[in-house]
This record gives sequence, C-alpha cells and structure tokens, in this order.
Amino acid sequence: MNIFKTVSDWIDEDDIDIITRRNVILGNPKFGKSTYGRLCLQIFTKKKFPLTYIDPGGIAASIRCTQDNVVIIGGEYGDVELNQVDKVLPVLMDKEVNFIVDTFELDDEFNKEIVGDLFEFFFNWHREYRRVRKYIIDECDYYVPQYHFDRTCKANIIRCVSKARMFGMGFDFITQNFTMIDKTVLKMVDNHLIFNMSDPIDLKRIGELLGERVDSKIKHLAVGRCLIYNKKDKYTYTVDEPESPSAGSTPRLHVKVEKLDILELNPRLQDLIK
Ligand SMILES: Nc1ncnc2c1ncn2[C@@H]1O[C@H](COP(=O)(O)OP(=O)(O)O)[C@@H](O)[C@H]1O
Ligand SMILES: [Mg+2]
Repeated sequence: MNIFKTVSDWIDEDDIDIITRRNVILGNPKFGKSTYGRLCLQIFTKKKFPLTYIDPGGIAASIRCTQDNVVIIGGEYGDVELNQVDKVLPVLMDKEVNFIVDTFELDDEFNKEIVGDLFEFFFNWHREYRRVRKYIIDECDYYVPQYHFDRTCKANIIRCVSKARMFGMGFDFITQNFTMIDKTVLKMVDNHLIFNMSDPIDLKRIGELLGERVDSKIKHLAVGRCLIYNKKDKYTYTVDEPESPSAGSTPRLHVKVEKLDILELNPRLQDLIK
C-alpha cells in the first residue's frame, strides 16, 4: 500500500488515454464516490478536457461555485432548460464545452427517456466525428440496471460503451448497488475504483470480478480512500476534496440541497447557448 498515491495524480495527466478510460466506481453510500466524480469534473474542466456529467442527484452543479466554464443543463441552477437540450447539445459538443445534465427534477420515465435519447445522440456524434469525450454517469444502476423492462436507455448506453475505444468515448460508471448493474458494463470497463464495501454478497461478487478476494482491504477503507484495480496496477488511493463544496451527498438524494453561490456563466459560453 502506497499512501502517497492520489486519485488526482491518476486522472491529472496530459494524455488522451485519461479521457477514454472506462471505469466503474463501486462502494457503500457516503464513502466518496460522487466526490470522486466531482473531483474528476473539476480536473477535466480546468484542463479543458471534454466531459459530460449525468447527474440524477443534482449534486454536480456546485462546480460552478469555482468554475464559470461549465454549462449546467436542467435543475435548479441550470443555464439551459432541459427541454432546450437538443438545441444546445451540438454546439457544446462541437466547441468541446463541459456540461452537466441535471435530471434530479424529472420523473422516472422521462428521466430514462431523456438520458436514453442523449446517448443515442452521443453515439451518432462520436461515430461521425471520432473526437474524444468523457462521460460520468452517477447512480448508474438507475440507467443500466441488470433487470428492467424498459431497455432503450440501457441499450443506448451499452452500445456507446461497446464502441467506446473506436469512437473516443470514456466512461465513469458510479454506483452503490453494484450487484444491480448490468454485467456487460462491468465486463467492459478497464478500471475498478472500489471504495469501502462490507456486504458479504458484494464482497464475494467483487472477488469473482477481480479474480481475487480483496475483502480485508475493502472492508477497512476509510472515507475518500479507494482501491484502483486494473491489469497493471493495484493500489490504494486517496481522493482529494474538490474545491467546490458538496451540494449534497447520496443519502440526501431527493432532499433539496442548500442554496449555492453560483458564478455567472463565462460570457463566451453564454453566447454559445443563446
Ligand atoms: N475525499 C474526501 N475527503 C473528505 N471527505 C470526503 C471525501 N469524499 C467524501 N467525503 C465526505 O463524505 C460525504 C459523502 O460523500 P459522497 O461522495 O457523496 O459519497 P457517495 O457518493 O459514495 O455516497 C461527503 O459529503 C463528504 O463529507
Ligand atoms: Mg453518490
């Protein structure tokens, strides 16, 4: 175990590979998965690496407390309403602007429909342009569940993941219900970021997934610590806290978040989304 390794170092490199990595982020609630997502959003936005954040918890908009160059679509702090998404998407993608899609306020059916349509658009866009962009999907078990009758949203996302390498798409799938997410997704990822996990069934499954039992390490991980597991590497990492405040963590889902002081959107981007 090397305590000097941080997740920031892991994602803060000048390399196309960083954007196109496919990761799954697993762990118990409140151990820092969404915080990792917000840190990633912050680093990518600062470096102008293109990124899209699918945010069903409505927690990512807080990045705009410190950064004015990321567009928020939907939600309480939205720069653009969700029903305008079709209009702004091609511009944001073309200009490599980072954006958050806040689906917190949507009802179940419409939420999945919107996200399903988005990934249909992303698939076609990347197929045509072959440019790189990273996608973070928080609470992903909601969009790519193992069992669900409505398969369109899941099918559209999986189609993207299966062509990710060829099309230049990277993914972060974040979930606290890893036994609930689609197995195809789990098999297609390059890296597993594992936060504290304690359920014996989860631990057994994670052992099967990684090919070795890592129970004792995972059970004792503190908040903000994770094990990054891939073919080359197997280390415990520390997740730095993002500069932006936490607007709400997972247990506060569906509870109104505290009012934030959001910066004005960068004037250059204001023109783009008019
Ligand atoms: N890297 C970290 N350093 C310090 N505190 C953290 C860190 N990650 C998470 N926390 C604390 O834990 C809470 C829950 O984190 P969150 O990322 O929302 O968890 P999860 O998404 O896994 O449920 C945060 O509000 C914060 O107070
Ligand atoms: Mg969370």
